[in-house]
Formats: sequence, structure tokens, C-alpha cells
Amino acid sequence: MIIEPVIKGVVARSCHPYGCQQAVRKQIDYVQQAKPIEHGAKRVLVLGASSGFGLASRIAHTFGGAEADTIGVSFERGPSEKGVGSAGWYNNIFFRQEAEKAGRIATNIVGDAFSQPVRQQVIEAINKDLGGQVDLVVYSLATGVRPNPETGEMWHSVIKTTGQPVVGPTLNLETDSLAEMTVEKATEQEIADTVKVMGGEDWADWIQCLSEAGVLAQGCRTVAYSYIGPEVTYPIYHHGTLGRAKEHMHTTADTLNTQLAAIGGQAHVAVCKALVTKASVFIPAFTPYMLALFKVMKQKGTHEGCIEQMQRLFNGRFYTLINHPQDVPTDEQRLIRMDDWELDPEVQQQVSEIMARMSAENFTELGDYAGYKQDFMALNGFGLAGVDYQQDISLDSLIVLQP
Ligand code: NAI
Ligand code: NA
Repeated sequence: MIIEPVIKGVVARSCHPYGCQQAVRKQIDYVQQAKPIEHGAKRVLVLGASSGFGLASRIAHTFGGAEADTIGVSFERGPSEKGVGSAGWYNNIFFRQEAEKAGRIATNIVGDAFSQPVRQQVIEAINKDLGGQVDLVVYSLATGVRPNPETGEMWHSVIKTTGQPVVGPTLNLETDSLAEMTVEKATEQEIADTVKVMGGEDWADWIQCLSEAGVLAQGCRTVAYSYIGPEVTYPIYHHGTLGRAKEHMHTTADTLNTQLAAIGGQAHVAVCKALVTKASVFIPAFTPYMLALFKVMKQKGTHEGCIEQMQRLFNGRFYTLINHPQDVPTDEQRLIRMDDWELDPEVQQQVSEIMARMSAENFTELGDYAGYKQDFMALNGFGLAGVDYQQDISLDSLIVLQP
């Protein structure tokens, strides 16, 4: 079969396995020529390792100077009669192949990270593959659902405001159009459920569980990723349901930091830049901001993707020679601000000017729509240089690839 892109709304229904391989290789190439990570963790667990910031964290640690062995947990779909499977499935496979070629261990665990069996599998893998301990736990899950362990029912996260409804243009990647859409006000229940799914509770449960199993090394650290953004986006993000979940995550970091101090460890949240990932394309009314932001940051030469953000986090901010908490630069809320270039006042000034003029008619010219769409296609392995997209690929040849 020839694998073609299929997009429904903002969801990609196909992916190109060898395009995903190429995308992983490109990230590896980037970190290999970037400023290396010094004093980095050698044994790393990444929860949410198959795409976005989690995959970039894993690549940075293995190939960007730390030479880490890793275990990656993700929820992905393999090939079947129904289709080729998900991009993250292939990212896992090709990352492992490259890591093994470089003499590193890379174990992939595919399953529901919220579940008890997957926690057990991870502990077994740490014992079997990483010599019994990890030095860093990266928490980079992004999902819309989490099972309630007591009832088996699902908590669903929603992307809504907590104040007035907001009307804003929302992108459709299938039709390349912007359409007006209303972001409604969430109920108290919806806010609470979103905090359950995207807040810090599961992160804390993981650290507790790993601690009880005795697999956290002396000095073990943990990091999770957050977004705040500029004031123009507060109604839909920072002051919306997702922002509430992130606030919970920030508080959780402080609790975990106190707990980990007992073994000389630390917990941080890194606040990142707005980027195109499988998760972020769902945020309604957010795209005009991103289109303007990409345009301005590219013009200024400060634009970064996931891999640039993560390499800069780990080679510049996160690790210090002696593991001293006071040496990690943070703001007064103890957050590591990787969104510093995004929030640069000059950048934000220009972004506001563009957004004020942006409409459904001119967004492809005023904003960086081409760049946004290219990033979205690349997430699914399409549009990458050096890939033969006319290649006839058999399902059997994909089925034999194991995570
Ligand atoms: P992503 O969608 O690229 O990655 C999510 C990962 O979680 C994937 O590896 C997926 O397989 C895994 N996952 C989802 N549900 C799972 C489950 N039940 N069990 C096991 N694995 C599961 O998302 P992205 O954007 O990298 O998000 C990671 C974190 O970064 C999130 O906390 C997000 O809020 C944050 N962030 C994202 C920004 C953006 O612009 N994309 C900006 C700043 C922060
Ligand atoms: Na991720």
C-alpha cells in the first residue's frame, strides 16, 4: 500500500511509519550538534514517551549528552487490518532501534499509564533493565480521559473557561479554514474532572508507587510540563479548565519536592512554549495566537520546537554540577520558565498587532499557517525530506516491528 495522509478536523487518521522514523532521526541529529547536556541523569523513566515533549526529553537524554538508558511508557496503537496504527507506535520502535545502535537501553512499555498493571510492569523493567533504580522521572502524559480506579468509570477532561464564555476562531486542518466557535463556561464538576485527568494526582501516585518499590535512586528528580502563556490567552487556557489542572500540578511539584528531599531529590515543573502536538491542536480559539506567535518568533530567530525546548531545558537549566536545589533557575513560584522567549514583551507586542488584524480570510498570510500545518503533518510522518512517500509498504512488514 501507498500510505497517504488522512485528516479529520484536527485529528490525523493515518501516519507514515518511515516518515516517523525520519522525524525521530531529525531530532537525534539536532541534539547531537546542540550544546550537550552535562551532569544529566543516566537512568530515566519517561511517562508519555512516544510524542511531543516526552519523546523530545527521551531523545535529549539518550543522544544529547547524557547517554541515558530509558524506559518509555505510552498509549499507542500498532498496525492491524484497521490501519497502520499511530505515529507514537512507530516513534517508539525507531527510537529504540537508534538507541540500541548507539549502545543504549531503550525499553518501551505500551499500555495505560494510569493502571496498576503498567505501574507493576515499569517497576519490573527498572529492576531488569536499569539495574533497579532511576535518577529522573519525566511526567509528560497528555490525555482526555483517566479511569477512576474505584469505579472503573472514566473522568473526562474538558477545554472550557471558568468565567465568561469566549468566542474565538478555531482551526480546521482538514479544510484549512478558521471558523468562529464558542468556548463555554465549565461546570464545577467539569473543572474537578479536568483536574483529575490533567492535574498532578497521577504524577504524585507514580512517585509514591516508585518510592515504595525502592526504585528511586538517591538524588532522584522528577519533572512535569506546563503551559501558562500570555494574558490574551488567559480566558481560554490559564484561567480555563486546563489552567486549573496545571495549577494543581504546580502545587503537586512542591509536595513532591518536599517528599523527595528525604532522598536528596527534587521535583520541578517546566513551563514550556506553545507548540503543535497531538494534544495542543484541540485547544479551541488558541490557534490564531499560535499562528501569530510562530510568525513572529521565526522572524526573530527564537522559534523552537519540542526538541529545541527540551535540549535547552536539560543542557542549560535543569542540571547543575552539584545537585543543589537553589542552583536551578526558577521564578518565585519555583517554576522553570522555558516560555521566556515566547513571553518576551517585544514578541508579545508584535503578536497582539497581528492577532488584531487576523481573520478567516487572511490568517494564512498574517500567521504562519504553512509552518503550523507542516508541523502537524510531520507529527504523523508526512512531508519530511528524504522519505519515499511512493514506497509500497506491506502491512506484514509493519506488523513484525515490535515496540
Ligand atoms: P503528546 O500528545 O504529544 O504526548 C502525550 C503522551 O502521553 C504520548 O506519549 C501518549 O502516548 C501518552 N499517553 C496519553 N495517555 C496515556 C495513557 N493513558 N497511558 C500511557 N501513555 C499515555 O502531548 P504533549 O503536548 O507533549 O504534552 C505533554 C505535556 O506537555 C502535557 O502536560 C502538556 O500539557 C504539556 N505542554 C504542552 C504544550 C504544547 O504546546 N503542546 C505546551 C506546554 C506544556
Ligand atoms: Na509527551
